[in-house]
Parts: sequence; C-alpha cells; structure tokens
Amino acid sequence: MSKLYIIGGNKLNGEITIPSAKNTLLPILASCILVDGEVKINNFTNYRDCIIMTNILSSLGAKIKYEGSAVIIDCRNINEWTITTELAKELRSSFFTLGAVLGRIGLAKVAYPGGCNIGARPVNIHLKALRDLGVSIIERHGYIYCNADGIKANTIHLDFPSVGATENIMMASCVINGTTIISNCAKEPEIEDLQNFLNSCGANISGAGTDTITIVGVGHLLHSTEYTCISDRIIAGTYAIATACTGGSVKLKDANSQHLIALTNVLKNAGVNIVENKKSLHISADKRLVSVPHISTMPYPCFPTDLQSQILVMQAISNGNSVISENIFESRFKVVPELKKMGAVILVKNNVAYISGVECLYGAEVYATDLRAGASLVIAGLVANGYTTVNNVEYIDRGYLKIEEDLSKLGADIKRID
Ligand code: EPZ
Repeated sequence: MSKLYIIGGNKLNGEITIPSAKNTLLPILASCILVDGEVKINNFTNYRDCIIMTNILSSLGAKIKYEGSAVIIDCRNINEWTITTELAKELRSSFFTLGAVLGRIGLAKVAYPGGCNIGARPVNIHLKALRDLGVSIIERHGYIYCNADGIKANTIHLDFPSVGATENIMMASCVINGTTIISNCAKEPEIEDLQNFLNSCGANISGAGTDTITIVGVGHLLHSTEYTCISDRIIAGTYAIATACTGGSVKLKDANSQHLIALTNVLKNAGVNIVENKKSLHISADKRLVSVPHISTMPYPCFPTDLQSQILVMQAISNGNSVISENIFESRFKVVPELKKMGAVILVKNNVAYISGVECLYGAEVYATDLRAGASLVIAGLVANGYTTVNNVEYIDRGYLKIEEDLSKLGADIKRID
C-alpha cells in the first residue's frame, strides 16, 4: 500500500490545469455501450476508477484503445450483459452500466454494488425508476436480474435527486421509442455533460441542469462521436481549499467557476480572495481564515458532499467555532478521528460536526478511509507542523491523478513512498 510523506508549512503558489471530471467520465464511458460505432473521448484522465470502468467495458466485449490523452471505445461487439460481484466490488459505479446494457441488449445481470465507507449506498431509487419504465426486475442471490422486453417511455419521479439513478434512466430511455420525463432529477454539471455527450451521439435529451429532464427516445442505437468532457469541479475545489489553507496564491486553469459557486461563497466568507474568469479561478489568502458558521451539504447547486471532508480541514484551522451538517451520506465523517490525531478539535453527533478552530495542526501517521477523506488528510498534512504520513493512498488515486505531483508543482513538500 502506497503512502504520502508530507512536510507541512509550505504555501501553495503557481498555476495548475484541472483535468477532466471522474464523475462525468464514468457515466459517459458506460453510455458508450449504447453507441453503434467508435467513440473518441479527447480528454480522458486515467484515474483508477476510470481504468476499472474501461476494464469492465472490455469484459463485456468492448474494444478500447488509447491515442495520447484520448481514449477510443468501440462497443459494437458487446455480447455480455453480466456485471459480476468482483467487478461491482471493485467499482461501485459499475452499476451505472445497467441502463446502457438494458438499452443495448435488453437483458442485464448486475451484482449489488454494496456499500462503502461513506454509506450503505442502496440502489432502491435506481430499481424503482427502472420498474416505472416497465423493466422487470428480480433480486436474488446478491444479483439483480433485469429484462427490458416490456420497457416503455414513462414519466418518472425520483424520491431523491440521485445522480446515478438519473444517469441510468437517461441511458435506458434515450434509445427506446417514446418520451420519458424524469422529475426531481439530479442537477449536477456531470448530468448536463452526459446529456451533451448523448446528444452528440444522436440522442434527443433536454432539461439537464434543471429538476426535470425530457428524453425523446430515438428508437435505435446511437452513432459515433468525438467528445471533450468538463473539468473536475471536485479536484478544482480540493486545490482551492488547499491553497486557502496554506495561505498561498494559485490559478486553477480550466476550472469552471459556475460549477463551484457554493464553494466560492464559503471561501469568500472565510476571507479568501477569489478572481473568477471564464476558464479559470484564482485563489489567494494572506491571513488566517475566519470560520464560516454553518455549512450544509445538499444536492447541487448547494455545497457538495464531495468537498465536505476538505472544507472540514479549513474550518478546523480557522478562527472561530463552526458547524458542518452532512445531509447526503450517513457516515461521511470517518476522517474526523484521523484529523483529531493531528490536533483538530471536532465533535461529531448525528451527522453534524462541531468544530473549534485551532491555530495549527501537528503532523501524524494517518489513514485514508475513502477518496475524499484521503484528499482532506493531504490538505491537513500541508498545513501541519512537522511531517505527516498518509496511508491507503490507493483511495486517493481513485479520483486524483498523482496528487503529489500536482501539489509538488505548487510548492508542497510531498512525496509518494510505494
Ligand atoms: C454520485 O454518487 C458521485 N459518484 C458521488 O461521488 C457523489 O458523492 C454523489 O453522486 C452525490 O453527489 C459518481 O458520480 C461516480 P447518489 P451516486 O445516488 O450517484 C442515496 C466521489 O467522491 N441513494 O446521488 O452513488 C445514497 O445512499 C463520489 O467522487 C439511495 O438511497 O450518489 C446517498 O445517500 C462519492 N438510493 C444519496 O442518495 C439509491 O438508489 C445520494 O446518492 C441511490 C442513492
């Protein structure tokens, strides 16, 4: 298991280009299953999760090849419709292939993706929506057996604006006949990117980014396309918070400030200077930050749960007391015991963290428990007195491509020990 060794105290300065978004690449890779031809994604980023997703596509019969920063996917020979327990355990979001497999083959056998360290991660909303589309579903022996013979367009209301469920229904309904409407759908930028990708392949989808999406099914598979994905707002947000915590000055190139309004509002209230341009975000802080009284994670466009662990570190070293409410996942404060080892003063009760800001943290040996918790421990190491070892870096590699190289470029004293 790799570790990151960090000597704290350096300010982050300079500029960094934000890569394509993991959470847009994953559903777009899955939706290639619906395309009767080659798909070229120009700005593929080989995050560990995205490599696993390409391996899953290969296991179903797809051909994958790489050309520089592009990946080319050809699903014309897809002949398999099973996502095994092993694959589902390796990548929860393999479940996002369900809608596309049903759209292409009409049958699917998918293992339950199971929970992870941030929550139970049930799939009931996905299954209810697919049943509303007329898909017959039998759940047995840890697998979900689906038959789409009776699939038909319908109006679907999601009990919760689930990102994955919205994406599964968009994929399953865009190649059948009839118009499907999803109300109370997720509004994340990644949903809009999936809509734009599918439309570039000949689908007819509108409304992404609002709470109602309309899919006019085309009744056949989609055609080849070449596509460039949006940048990763969570990586941009992570580096913005790291810059603010270290009191540095960093330009985040290709960051879309429109996707980060909830975060930049919090940062401005904390005393961070922000300059927003069309294709970049400049972050700088020159004094100790002030605690933001209450941050509450909610579906987009509110404060994202995927930046909660990172902003927790900023609050932990800011001047004042504050509260963070986690309203999306039931156990996303697992990083708190690790931060307390470093001197943070945080109490968690009923999914709410009560934070008393301290002047400084102290280096320690800490353990990442999930992807974003790992990123927050790196930020804590950057600002701590002394050195910090972050273990279980494989979690971080799922959604950051060599985080230590990015941060070293910005002046951090950080290295990977394999
Ligand atoms: C996506 O997960 C993201 N992953 C997550 O990012 C992100 O945290 C999450 O959306 C929320 O924004 C990808 O896009 C690959 P949800 P997803 O369905 O689709 C409950 C990261 O760090 N729920 O919107 O799985 C669920 O338990 C990852 O990059 C049900 O109860 O999230 C959670 O409490 C972590 N039943 C809430 O809804 C369901 O059928 C939001 O889940 C589905 C979800």
